[in-house]
Amino acid sequence: MSRIVFIVFLFLCTCPLLQAQDVSLPEPVKSGGMPLMEALSKRQTIRAYADRAIGQQTLSNLLWAAYGFNRADKRVVPSAQNRQEIDLYAVLKEGIYFYDAKANKLLLKAKGDYRKDTGGQDFVAGAPLNLVYVANLDRASGHDAACVDCGFISQNVYLFCASEGLATVVRGGINKAGMHKILQLTAHQEVLLAQTVGYPK
Ligand SMILES: Cc1cc2nc3c(=O)[nH]c(=O)nc-3n(C[C@H](O)[C@H](O)[C@H](O)COP(=O)(O)O)c2cc1C
Repeated sequence: MSRIVFIVFLFLCTCPLLQAQDVSLPEPVKSGGMPLMEALSKRQTIRAYADRAIGQQTLSNLLWAAYGFNRADKRVVPSAQNRQEIDLYAVLKEGIYFYDAKANKLLLKAKGDYRKDTGGQDFVAGAPLNLVYVANLDRASGHDAACVDCGFISQNVYLFCASEGLATVVRGGINKAGMHKILQLTAHQEVLLAQTVGYPK
């Protein structure tokens, strides 16, 4: 029995999304990982990515570490006046997904490969995952607060990647107008940053 559980676990770890539709993510694993001081020692920006997809389990763990809930209505990151005004989108080969942290789901927003639309740097189109951070300014306590809140999420991604041997780079270099259009955002929503994630080359 434990062998079957292990095989299913391995499959979930390595299986990419495969379908362009809403995806229920596996429950994030909230234990283990590298000791914090070691992860801080390894935290760095990496800009060369292997052509290798991120498995569903790792994706779920990553998204939870970035912006999941660790209490009933509060998250792993602080947020000015607890406005939680940042929305996180995952741009994958299969499509663009909104991360619904409460439901632990990826909700399909646009079908197709939009990775190259998230930025002009040469590694962007081939890396398996680009996160896009969007501020809801009518929910935020201010623009500065939204930028600070976004920084916490990005740093969590950096530390998760350091712990898991993944590569990442946060990017101000993002086609903000283009992504605004593709994501069909309103005038009160602003694309703040992108963050590329994958396996190091
Ligand atoms: C707000 C912000 C925007 C950034 N934008 C980019 C970018 O567009 N492209 C890029 O390659 N790196 C970008 N970086 C990464 C920095 O260049 C990188 O963090 C810096 O060189 C220090 O390297 P380290 O992260 O390895 O310590 C950005 C970093 C921050 C904090």
